[in-house]
Amino acid sequence: MSKRVLTTESGAPVADNQNSATAGVGGPILLQDQHLLEKLARFNRERIPERVVHARGSGAYGYFEVTDDVTRFTKAAFLSEVGKRTETFIRFSTVADSLGGADAVRDPRGFALKFYTEEGNYDLVGNNTPVFFIKDPIKFPDFIHSQKRDPFTGKQEPDNVWDFWAHSPEATHQITWLMGDRGIPASYRHMNGYGSHTYQWTNEAGEAFFVKYHFKTNQGIRSLSAEQAAELVGKDANSHQTDLLQAIERGVNPSWTLYVQVMPASEAADYRFNPFDLTKVWPHADYPLQRVGRLVLDRNPENVFAEVEQAAFSPNNFVPGIGPSPDKMLQGRLFAYADAHRYRLGVNHTQLPVNAPKATVADNYGRDGFMATRNGSRTDKNYEPNSYSGPSQTDAALSAPLAIAGWTGTHEAPLHNKDDDFFQAGELYRLMSEDEKSRLIANIAGGLSQVSREDVIEKNIAHFAAADAEYGKRVEEAVRALRED
Ligand code: HEM
Repeated sequence: MSKRVLTTESGAPVADNQNSATAGVGGPILLQDQHLLEKLARFNRERIPERVVHARGSGAYGYFEVTDDVTRFTKAAFLSEVGKRTETFIRFSTVADSLGGADAVRDPRGFALKFYTEEGNYDLVGNNTPVFFIKDPIKFPDFIHSQKRDPFTGKQEPDNVWDFWAHSPEATHQITWLMGDRGIPASYRHMNGYGSHTYQWTNEAGEAFFVKYHFKTNQGIRSLSAEQAAELVGKDANSHQTDLLQAIERGVNPSWTLYVQVMPASEAADYRFNPFDLTKVWPHADYPLQRVGRLVLDRNPENVFAEVEQAAFSPNNFVPGIGPSPDKMLQGRLFAYADAHRYRLGVNHTQLPVNAPKATVADNYGRDGFMATRNGSRTDKNYEPNSYSGPSQTDAALSAPLAIAGWTGTHEAPLHNKDDDFFQAGELYRLMSEDEKSRLIANIAGGLSQVSREDVIEKNIAHFAAADAEYGKRVEEAVRALRED
């Protein structure tokens, strides 16, 4: 094999990669040492802005295979045939900490999936929890500020975390979930994924359905106790990354079975819970799980920065047959992600290999900007309509229309007859075994007892009590006991 020659960025051979050029032996460095200048300057620019949330993550390629016919619900081409496979890329993540944060922490996990379909990329940007802390996107920046590092102390502060929750009773359901056994997954392989929001599916006949996605892990759910997690973080802060990487390298390919809950669009208005409220689930007794297919991860990225750090998932990357619901949180996210990508990666991030379509080509009139690599040829016009057979619209609606009535204004999301902030949190609590309840109470009390203000503690206890009187009483007793210690 011929020896590979080290070159500069422009491809010229490098004569010396160990000694910089100087004016005489022992003299100052020469400005003409292009290799040195380029090396130092490039190194200074290696980092890009980290994701403002979900900064720490792990990725893998794989495929999605349809196992059950869902064509009566959606016309999406990648779901059109049993046995059909679509290439995918997934990124798992923690939420609150920065890029260097530890993996085994109590935090929701991101479950962001890109399907490279023949009708364009479909991104399903979910979490490992079926619900969320808030139900209006206008609260998201405040929520995240309260959970990330405090601008003065530079660390996460129980005072901020619980103060925000004291003012957000709608978070009680998700807090109960997070502080329970599933709050620290043993690894990314041992947790479920959820689309969390309600989405809209439309079939060939134009009929609309509302759906919720559930990816059930085929590895089984495994979680860590607070003590086990603390020990693991000390031994391997990158434990989830280690686990995922090694499993796939060994050929132990993790998989998930996808189920959907399907609600005919006509039932949404009268359902007992607002079906577009992200703090609520649809009990399976109301809308049972229907199997769709399986997701298999079988290939590690070759380069973490190029493929995982530069991956860009956006909830508004839909394909025909799948669209948004009026969930206000989802609507806010339809803006936030692509905007984040333009800031973090630049306007041409869609041309990076991990983000570009693989089963079709992007063909439009978007041009120029930093780092444009796909910019059209001499025969491609950069305007539309044109007389030169450039790409043109299909006139086929991607999803069904939604009937809307009423006044503009800053409305609270409508309440359905069983809606309040606490009922489902109480249901979740009552489902738990005695042991699970004890661990839940201990986890909540561990954080809440560190809060400095009594009124903030009381407001939070009142939320748990509203969910279930016993739940509230036990949290109160556990917090008092820890504070008296
Ligand atoms: C209005 C509420 C929300 C806003 C404004 C928001 C905004 C963001 C932003 C700006 C990012 C960083 C994107 C990037 O730089 O690539 C992000 C990442 C992420 N968000 Fe959200 N988010 C919201 C709610 C949610 C919810 C409800 C879920 C899950 C159901 C979720 C799941 C994720 C995931 C998984 C990532 C990481 C994606 C990746 O791996 O690249 N977010 N979010």
